[in-house]
Amino acid sequence: MKVLGIESSCDETGVALYDTERGLLGHAVHTQVAMHEAYGGVVPELASRDHIRRLIPLLERVLAEAGCTRREIDAIAYTAGPGLAGALLVGASFAEALAMALGIPALPVHHLEGHLLSPLLADDPPAFPFIALLVSGGHTQLMRVARVGDYELLGESLDDAAGEAFDKTAKLLGLGYPGGPALAKLAEAGTPGRYKLPRPMINSGDLSFSFSGLKTAVLTVARARELTDADKADLAAEFQEAVTEVLAAKAVAACRQHRLLALVVAGGVGANRRLRQRLDQAVAKIGGRVFYPRLELCTDNGAMIAFAGSQRLLQGKVPAPGGGAFAVRPRWPLDQLS
Ligand code: KG4
Ligand code: ZN
Repeated sequence: MKVLGIESSCDETGVALYDTERGLLGHAVHTQVAMHEAYGGVVPELASRDHIRRLIPLLERVLAEAGCTRREIDAIAYTAGPGLAGALLVGASFAEALAMALGIPALPVHHLEGHLLSPLLADDPPAFPFIALLVSGGHTQLMRVARVGDYELLGESLDDAAGEAFDKTAKLLGLGYPGGPALAKLAEAGTPGRYKLPRPMINSGDLSFSFSGLKTAVLTVARARELTDADKADLAAEFQEAVTEVLAAKAVAACRQHRLLALVVAGGVGANRRLRQRLDQAVAKIGGRVFYPRLELCTDNGAMIAFAGSQRLLQGKVPAPGGGAFAVRPRWPLDQLS
């Protein structure tokens, strides 16, 4: 079965074709980073218009890469939420219209379920059940994943998501958008420990996170005096240490509490090298192993949506073709999925 995946929840347009027998046949992503850069963040209306421009060329590219025609697609999976309402509507209407024209089912997919299952696209995937650490621009969550569709929320951020904290702190340091990768790069040139930042909620005894205080702590340092480039690098390094230390500590605590030795890491912040290093070390200490998606599948993409959709279809959740009625859910808690 060949499933086309469409992702358009934020600032990346992703299209992919996944075959349940042969794996990923093709995938292409267009990132809008350059377009939003001038504004210091994502402009929703511009994002929606750009998704419209990109979807058909990306579809053609993926089909050419896969060596398939439209007629060979068996079903279309698309991100229905959470995300920007207008951006989601572009992907949803494109997917529903194409499915109706081809007489095949269209399937709404939860964006975070896509991220969560993306490590299963790797050559050496984890087995269920596992603990998942979801770290994206909008979410920081620890989940217990029993199987596809069975997600128990163990803890999440009470305020800013980890990616959001990276982005906001990067902005404070004048690094622009998107902040996460830029801050991580700057951190490599700095020395942690020269500035002392808190490790929020590390001893809270639960699996909740809080990152907004960290950004304020950085702001306090930045306001005290003019920072040189070396100061900024040291501050970035300490910030990265603080976030990754807390994430690693809580992820290991979740594994211990649930007696699980497989940890899956998904979402954009999962690309962070220091986070990977820390998680690998901490999880190895308890005899476990960390599973990551392929690096290019860490950030938003159509492959994870095609894959999540295919798993739903394999479970027998096949919507009637050509219904044409659809709705997007800009807010959609993952543990409300059935
Ligand atoms: O999953 P994603 O692509 O989009 C959302 O669904 O949010 O995650 C994007 C987030 C952004 O906040 C970005 O700054 C962050 O992931 N990010 C990073 C790194 N690469 C991306 N944060 C820290 N270090 C990185 N290397
Ligand atoms: Zn995402």
